Amino acid sequence: MNCACEGGNSRGCDCVMASACPKTPGRAIGLRQDRLLRPAGPTAHRTAEVDVRSPPVLPEAVGWDGHMTSETDLRGRTALVTGGSRGIGAATARRLAREGADVAVTYVRGKDAAEEVVRDIEALGRRAVALRADSADAAQAGDAVRRAAEELGGLDVLVGNAAVGMTGPLESLSLADVDRLLAVNVRGVFLAARSAAAVMGDGGRIITVGSCVTARVPGPGATLYAMSKSAVVGLTKALARELAGRGITANVVHPGPTDTDMNPADGPYASGQAAVTALGRFGTAEEVASMVAFLAGPDAAYVTGAEFSVDGGYAA
Ligand SMILES: NC(=O)c1ccc[n+]([C@@H]2O[C@H](COP(=O)([O-])OP(=O)(O)OC[C@H]3O[C@@H](n4cnc5c(N)ncnc54)[C@H](OP(=O)(O)O)[C@@H]3O)[C@@H](O)[C@H]2O)c1
Repeated sequence: MNCACEGGNSRGCDCVMASACPKTPGRAIGLRQDRLLRPAGPTAHRTAEVDVRSPPVLPEAVGWDGHMTSETDLRGRTALVTGGSRGIGAATARRLAREGADVAVTYVRGKDAAEEVVRDIEALGRRAVALRADSADAAQAGDAVRRAAEELGGLDVLVGNAAVGMTGPLESLSLADVDRLLAVNVRGVFLAARSAAAVMGDGGRIITVGSCVTARVPGPGATLYAMSKSAVVGLTKALARELAGRGITANVVHPGPTDTDMNPADGPYASGQAAVTALGRFGTAEEVASMVAFLAGPDAAYVTGAEFSVDGGYAA
């Protein structure tokens, strides 16, 4: 199969984006990953109509360093970031600490990495703790929240970030795969949020981490992961309604392709993902952390039940 466009030209069609299908422009569905994986920028002359972009303009080139440029005062606040040893979670933990919060992180395998995050936060004069807690374990997922609140003397912010990625054709996904992924990506987030609601005071913040694939799936193989992240959207919106009476907000942040261990910017599928974004590049973990910090802060008090894409225009 080269292309699953509705025009039925599934042999020999070289279209990459829906608008480029020579037979039925704008009607392509179910494009193959490898058709989406060609590099963005001037080297990617897929077709004259489609790929007319210049190389991506990086934030540094226009005077942005991708780090904090505004103030979000989290002094005196306490936060737990699940999956805070690496990637977006680690960047978020460091960012919340820079804004003044004391921060707990959970990890499973990355003890050393989690302890490095703790040291960085302590170097800022904040308190920090790393807790080993597997989100796939129902008891540990909820208990981590209670332990974080105990260690930090309360909990104001929960960032439900821990997740695992898994892609592959439908028939390759075993029942164990399905159960494991849903346990981490959905049940673990639910249990952490429920525990957080029990220990948080009025005005708390729950921020979940979804994915750009809830808006748009650019190719096959993402059924399980996309399903799990869409469940996180439903959970978050329902939490917003359920906890609004206590002034607790719940919002979901959708990262686009973001350079982490889960999805490295030099990985085999990276160039195709970058090509699907409007900005033509991967994001950084710090760029996602900026949105989380805003939602955790006082300026976001009237924001709840909302979805925020930090995806370089992936969903545009
Ligand atoms: N990177 C992207 O392009 C992208 C795009 C859309 C959405 N996201 C979402 O962004 C979030 C962070 O992703 P990332 O790219 O930063 O991933 P990552 O680099 O793989 O880091 C995942 C983090 O989660 C932790 N973790 C994994 N399994 C866990 C479990 N069972 N219990 C507790 N912690 C666990 C890991 O800890 P250990 O190291 O200790 O195992 C690590 O700290 C996820 O929700 C992901 O789905 C990422």
